[in-house]
Amino acid sequence: MSLLDSTEEKWLYPFQWLWDTFFICAWNHNTDQSIFDAGMFLNAQQPNGFCGHIRYNREILERRDYFPPPDVYFMGKLPEKGEISSKITQPPNIGYGLLEMAKKILKKNGDLNAVKLLFQRTLKYHEYIYANRIIDGCMVTIHPWEAGDDNSPKWDVIYKKLEKYISSHGDLGKIINDWLNNLDISFERADIKIVKHTQRPTDPHYYLYLFLIYLYGRWNWDDHKILKDSPFRVLDPMTNAILLRSDVSLLELADVLGEKSNLVLDKINEWINISKIGLEQLWSEDHKLYLAKDLYDGSLINIETVSGFIPLFSNAIPASHAAKIAEKLNKLILTGDTKFQIPSTLFKEHKYFDPERYWRGPVWIITNELVAQGLDFYGYKKLSDFIRANILMLVSNSLNDRGGFYEYFNSITGAGLGSARQSWTAAAVLNALSVMS
Ligand code: DGY
Repeated sequence: MSLLDSTEEKWLYPFQWLWDTFFICAWNHNTDQSIFDAGMFLNAQQPNGFCGHIRYNREILERRDYFPPPDVYFMGKLPEKGEISSKITQPPNIGYGLLEMAKKILKKNGDLNAVKLLFQRTLKYHEYIYANRIIDGCMVTIHPWEAGDDNSPKWDVIYKKLEKYISSHGDLGKIINDWLNNLDISFERADIKIVKHTQRPTDPHYYLYLFLIYLYGRWNWDDHKILKDSPFRVLDPMTNAILLRSDVSLLELADVLGEKSNLVLDKINEWINISKIGLEQLWSEDHKLYLAKDLYDGSLINIETVSGFIPLFSNAIPASHAAKIAEKLNKLILTGDTKFQIPSTLFKEHKYFDPERYWRGPVWIITNELVAQGLDFYGYKKLSDFIRANILMLVSNSLNDRGGFYEYFNSITGAGLGSARQSWTAAAVLNALSVMS
């Protein structure tokens, strides 16, 4: 393969994903492109403010090279015209993306009119979240794909309970195969034709992902019912930290845009207060880290993952907690058993750790950059420099004729894994470089 034939390779992610889109918009220096991408994505927003985690491009859908197709969210009947998006969302970083984009536009003396419109839409998205998706001050994640770190071993604990729940409904394989047959879809994963299966989630986990979509479809995607009865309802630190950072960003963006309405400002301040209090209930003094909480029985899931560091990125946790997280990170760097930092799942000795499988141990450039930003905010510059040096080392060692801005990296060997041309990796590198220089 040559550096010239960039269209030959199949894409692991052929559509527009929510959190990819807005981290890229935040860090891309080409603000015209960011305005275009953000606008395209938000064209698929639902009338009630909801934003699905994938915006499916109709032309690309015709290639039939992503599994599952959006039909699973629509009982097989896709809308005949207009935008199509999924019915689960993703870590809500839109507010953060817009503010960073606006700052770049201002530096170029550009026009913020397009951002004004996108700001209004984002307020609507947050209104939807705070009206429909909050329990105990935290946004509830109802599907592993919503969490972003979908193959994290955190979720294994819940899967045990989920499997029990399913067995009272029948045989999982049969339920899913019958359902897919009805929708005229075959269970044929496109991802493992592009990336080695050892780097991706397993088939049994894909069956569980599909079961949740099947179940919610039977419940007509009724948020109230899902939040009350779903066997997968979790409060995750990464999602809630990103939501809080987006709230904080929206407040700053309101100022940048000259938004004076007390109604709007009071509303955003109220969201910030709710989320600040909510996030703190995920703090674990034993672990010196934030942990996910399973709403099924209210327990904290005591598996340490990179998600537990992300509350630093909210810029809104107590400085005492930031200090304990920084100390933990320092120890991890000095005595931890992975060569590269920060592994998506901490510690190698745990049976679920896997340095090469999706979210089970590899390093993500994107989560490194979020942690580094939080460390900067709380005054741990040496640590953030170290984390960003890991970003640059991993990416520069992997540059090759396939691109090299890999989706994730083996935390022991540094090898690039997953998709070879991941735009948000490149965008995070751009940001790391601009902060370090
Ligand atoms: C995937 O395809 O792996 C995504 O995480 C689902 O959103």
